Amino acid sequence: MKRILLFACVIALCALLVPGNAQAAQTTYKKQTFLIATTNPLGSLHATALEKFREIVEKESAGAITVKTFYGGSMGDEQANVKQLRTGELHVACLYSGNFSPFAPTASIFSLPYIFPNIQDAYKIFGNKAYMAKLTDIIVKQSNTRPLGWAVGGYRYLTNSKRPILKIDDLKGLKFRVSPADTQLESFRAWGVDPHPMAWSETFNALQQGVVDGQENPHSVNRDQKFWEVQKFITEIHYILWTGPILASESWYRKLDQDTRALVDKAGLEAQGYEWKWSEEQEEVAKQDCIKHGMVVNQVTDETVWQEKARSIWPKFYDKIGGKALVDEAVAIVDGK
Ligand code: MLT
Repeated sequence: MKRILLFACVIALCALLVPGNAQAAQTTYKKQTFLIATTNPLGSLHATALEKFREIVEKESAGAITVKTFYGGSMGDEQANVKQLRTGELHVACLYSGNFSPFAPTASIFSLPYIFPNIQDAYKIFGNKAYMAKLTDIIVKQSNTRPLGWAVGGYRYLTNSKRPILKIDDLKGLKFRVSPADTQLESFRAWGVDPHPMAWSETFNALQQGVVDGQENPHSVNRDQKFWEVQKFITEIHYILWTGPILASESWYRKLDQDTRALVDKAGLEAQGYEWKWSEEQEEVAKQDCIKHGMVVNQVTDETVWQEKARSIWPKFYDKIGGKALVDEAVAIVDGK
């Protein structure tokens, strides 16, 4: 009898200690673990988005859901992460659109060269609920993965170890690593260069060993990778903005109950907004870091030529993306029409 009384007291005490809404959360959400990953390290834009996602899920589920993180490539490169999402081995990942587009050709829309004249133009598209719902449906069907939100970094600037690039002809003879996105490969070809598609995880070594002379990524990504150890010159061109999905496994997502699914949706969107702000501040901080470590930043004097040549490749991609109408709609949103 004494034991029963003691047990009842402990239960009552616990109920007093756990606030009402936490108790409710604990009963709303099943005890479970989410597995999330990025190839990039803690402090990167990718991990920043995922950390926010983790924080929201764990807080709002009052600990019923635990989020286990795999950062810095411990689950393989970005394409490996997509494959793991497709099998359900991984639940959420954050990666660059270009590394995603081989699985979801419609995502190539975000790496059409010069589609985003300003960073705010990306926010306009990603913030357009009707357009993004349409795109999400297509992408889910193509890839069996679901974008919960989209991270936005800075523009993909060129870096190389050989010489400053001030005009398009300076590219001649340089070997650039790019992601496997066709739109990127074709952009470089339009500029008269034969690019080298390569997994992100192999890029640093390839630069170090001189397999390639350069690559392109935003300042914050260049900083995370300490590219100053193997690269000297940065050239600020504005052909592609770094964008990338906060991507969920569709088979996993479908198995979630309604409340958990709503929490996952909410956390994805809030992580997106948080990352946008973070990234805007970090691009300048990262640029200064690169300069402090000896990198030299240049701008090109003939970006209209780069733009004209790169824009000429668009028609090659209309079918792949899902039709010209889908691209026209994105351009109209950017133009505020
Ligand atoms: C790449 O160049 O492959 C990507 O931009 C890497 C990344 O996810 O930041």
